Amino acid sequence: MPEIKTIGVLTSGGDAPGMNAAIRAVVRTGVYHGLKVYGIRKGFNGLINGDMTEMNLRSVSDIIHRGGTILQTVRCPEFKTEEGIRKAIAMARVFDLDAVVVIGGDGSFRGAKELAEMGLPVIGIPGTIDNDIGCTDYSIGFDTALNTVQDAIDKIRDTAYSHERCSVLEVMGRHAGFIAINVAVSGGAEAVVLPEEKFDLDKIVIKPIIEGRNRGKKHYVVVVAEGAGDAVEIAQAIEEKTGVEARATILGHIQRGGSPTVQDRVMASFMGAKAVELLKQGLVNRVTALKGNQVVDVEIGKALETVKTIDPYLIELNKILSL
Ligand code: ADP
Ligand code: F6P
Repeated sequence: MPEIKTIGVLTSGGDAPGMNAAIRAVVRTGVYHGLKVYGIRKGFNGLINGDMTEMNLRSVSDIIHRGGTILQTVRCPEFKTEEGIRKAIAMARVFDLDAVVVIGGDGSFRGAKELAEMGLPVIGIPGTIDNDIGCTDYSIGFDTALNTVQDAIDKIRDTAYSHERCSVLEVMGRHAGFIAINVAVSGGAEAVVLPEEKFDLDKIVIKPIIEGRNRGKKHYVVVVAEGAGDAVEIAQAIEEKTGVEARATILGHIQRGGSPTVQDRVMASFMGAKAVELLKQGLVNRVTALKGNQVVDVEIGKALETVKTIDPYLIELNKILSL
């Protein structure tokens, strides 16, 4: 493996709070180790089009507290084609890139793996609010998104109490329910609808509301993961089947923004630095990952094969605590 002297860093897929802290850590650790670091704009698009500039210590000043990504991000369909990947490899040669650090979700990691297979070394850093990447306990952005949703639940609970209503809150997560189950527990939701459980409205939502009413409850919070159901339809069904007035709120992209929490800034700093340390050691085509309390690295192919599931006890615990 020849010595790595020049690297690129890009953010891809959905943005996540803490991506800027990760970019900062890659650039500063890279410069510390004497590497030339290019910031590649708009994900794999920037690699294909050569939209990149050299970054220095000051390029990443004053960004650690900012949500979004200063490098911006897009979903790049061209990169899913062989032609797109060939163009990206050719452009990497023009800029003398020895490796690219890809910050994103599992889709972005699949793209990074294609680059690796075509001969351009990569390191992946998990960044997605969904926290659904199998190889890591944690993905940058998850904690900030949870806190944004938690703030919304607390506010919605106030008005649900005043009106004796049921509030149905739809949260993001694509096909996964990690955001939903965690905020259901932290927000004291009466019910949570998850893609990981068979959709049975009567059992999961209607029964707990009726039983709660029989025990004296007068207002309710129901969390719906976007991959499991539609908050508006579920709110209508609740009204029809229980007689409790219901309102739906779809939180949407507010969950992707905002200043990153301490956890996201620290994790992004660790993982960004680790990515560069790996490259310095000539360890490539790997993904940084949190395992327990340790930031480790996993081969990118293995990382993509690993499936992550919700702890069934967390689902059970929510049912017990919402009695
Ligand atoms: P995330 O990284 O957050 O999961 P996406 O699934 O949208 O987001 O993936 C981000 C980008 O990664 C896509 O727009 C595409 O450019 C690239 N990508 C995703 N899947 C593949 C694939 N199988 N091969 C090559 N590139 C891919
Ligand atoms: O992967 C992050 C995420 O916010 C998902 O939770 C959501 O399903 C999706 O991205 C939304 O994507 P877009 O920003 O393209 O609407």
